[in-house]
Amino acid sequence: MTEQERIVQLRTELHRLNHLYYVENRSEIPDQEFDALMHELADLEALHPELSDPNSPTQRVGSDLSGDFQSVEHRYPMLSLGNTYNRADVAEFYRRVSEGLGGEPFEICCELKFDGLSISLTYEQGRLIRGVTRGDGQRGDDVTAAVRTIRSLPLQLPEGSDWPADFEIRGEVLLPWENFERINREREAREEPLFANPRNAASGTLKSKDSRVAAQRGLDAYLYYLLGDSIPGRTHFDNLQAARRWGFKVSDATTLCRSLEEVYAFIDHWDEARHVLPVATDGVVLKVNDLTQQRRLGYTSKSPRWAIAYKFQAERARTRLMNVTFQVGRTGAVTPVAEMQPVALAGTTVRRASLHNEDYIRQYDLHLGDWVFVEKAGEIIPQIVGVDVDARDVFLGQPVQFAKTCPECGAQLVRYDGEAAHYCPNASQCPPQLRGRVEHFVSREAMNIESIGPETIADFFERHLIRDVADLYALDVQAVSGGNQNRAVSAKKVIDGICKSLAVPFDRVLFALGIRFVGRVAARAVARHFHSIDAIASASAEELQQVEGIGKVIAESIVAWFQSENNRQLVARLRAAGVQMFMAEEQRDSEALGGKSIVISGTFSHHSREEYKALIERHGGKNVSSISSKTSFILAGENMGPSKQQKAASLGIALVSEAEFLAMIGEAPQAAAPTLFG
Ligand code: IVH
Repeated sequence: MTEQERIVQLRTELHRLNHLYYVENRSEIPDQEFDALMHELADLEALHPELSDPNSPTQRVGSDLSGDFQSVEHRYPMLSLGNTYNRADVAEFYRRVSEGLGGEPFEICCELKFDGLSISLTYEQGRLIRGVTRGDGQRGDDVTAAVRTIRSLPLQLPEGSDWPADFEIRGEVLLPWENFERINREREAREEPLFANPRNAASGTLKSKDSRVAAQRGLDAYLYYLLGDSIPGRTHFDNLQAARRWGFKVSDATTLCRSLEEVYAFIDHWDEARHVLPVATDGVVLKVNDLTQQRRLGYTSKSPRWAIAYKFQAERARTRLMNVTFQVGRTGAVTPVAEMQPVALAGTTVRRASLHNEDYIRQYDLHLGDWVFVEKAGEIIPQIVGVDVDARDVFLGQPVQFAKTCPECGAQLVRYDGEAAHYCPNASQCPPQLRGRVEHFVSREAMNIESIGPETIADFFERHLIRDVADLYALDVQAVSGGNQNRAVSAKKVIDGICKSLAVPFDRVLFALGIRFVGRVAARAVARHFHSIDAIASASAEELQQVEGIGKVIAESIVAWFQSENNRQLVARLRAAGVQMFMAEEQRDSEALGGKSIVISGTFSHHSREEYKALIERHGGKNVSSISSKTSFILAGENMGPSKQQKAASLGIALVSEAEFLAMIGEAPQAAAPTLFG
């Protein structure tokens, strides 16, 4: 057998095994053997780049070569469905269909309504050609690269099946509950914002520019609609069975019903049974089965007359409001939290729910001891959606009062004009605010001190090692380890991390200070304009508003921050510790890279990747993630990946070495970041 033949053989076999595993949930061989076959194929493909194929099973790992999304026109517009919420509406739909068909018999294909992202897939000659999101129904985003990572989707249909040469199949891309929960746990650990529900997570995943993200997160897809000129069946149900034969994941729940009673029974069954499904569903979809009858019923301007969605009631529970507590965040904002009698709701036990602010409490006229209704809807986070006023004990229940003082430090709370939130104004002493500011200061986009996380910070406060961010720079190994030899190594890491942060450029230092409303972008703009902390500290609100993107609110917040004696002292102490308080000449605006699109690849010795990104921006360039014909050059470090090298060569794009790049922006390569404490 030639290597070429072996590649073809391996691809066919791996496609088959993938289907068994991801669609039929069984495997014929142990995982290790599967991995070995995959390796063999990857090795052979590396030897034969001329035989590369985007639909090879090896391509499921994703690639960073997918660029911005192209907008693609749908061959058949992607319509939405009319929604119904109760049996009467379902009966009405049934009656309209019957009437539209002149009273002749019909069947309804009942399906689950998957709560993900709709997708349209094009197959030509049995190969996946394109995956496009719904978009506005007429045009969607081409997300083929991410779609290819979905292991339950066949990239190549098996030979010998009766698939048409050219068809479209539609379905829903979903992130299974299990993966959704894992990803949120990981995000929580990294202190990144959590996804509210699997739908948002699936959407973020599919739209991530780097399809390796999709590969890692583990999307799934259920298919429910076949389109094309020569699709095989005369009914929708038959077409779905055909799609299943070709290797697509079609839900087993799909059922043909011949009467309204059977439709109700389907709805009732799945309203309960859906809770054990691996993916999110939010209703059922009812479709007239016969395609000729579908055609006769036709469409309104928005949706088919032959189909309708029935949405399940959001899950709701009734429980008792026992208490309201108040949480203080980094900015001093105080959030009221309902503490409730634990109640089971959609698979978890709910004890607490955010009450957002005082207006929300007023809106429901909440009283302690009230019986409240809690819903999760599609969201994971429970919400109070109503009060059972009739059940209120008029003698016992006191109206919920918003706290007057901070539960953490006792300061009088304030509510600013036009804002819904209450704040604890005691920024310089209130413990969660103190901790929160340090957490923000060390975070990745700010000073990026990776060796310090929230637990370390809490520990430092408890041991009275720090009171603010400037105290970090006075720490040494002895203090951090508490003289404990076992802790010396980790303490050294902490100190190294702090020392390294002295090299963090001024614009990020400004962001790290945590001035209200001053995000990463605003901080960069202000730093570039004024060049130094002293210039910013003495600027008026009007002068600050001269900076592009800085409005009144941000400007006034900056002025107010520097008016505080505490804050000015903090700056002085940080400066004395060696933290960057101005933009070095070479960091200032330059147009050395004006208008250039630059891809960063490989590893570097003078700056981190993040720093190179910042340098590119600072010199007027644009950092892009994937190589295309529009790329100006590649900043190529050590160990640049072979696929990138190939792509660059094929498009004739220049590689610029680290030293050459530093010369371009007028920075002489220098020694590594300074360390203070040896
Ligand atoms: S059929 C013309 N079937 O619900 C019929 N849709 O507003 C096209 N959905 O955008 C859709 N599960 O994203 C159909 N079994 C199912 C579905 C389903 C979920 C989504 C789909 C569509 C929306 C309807």
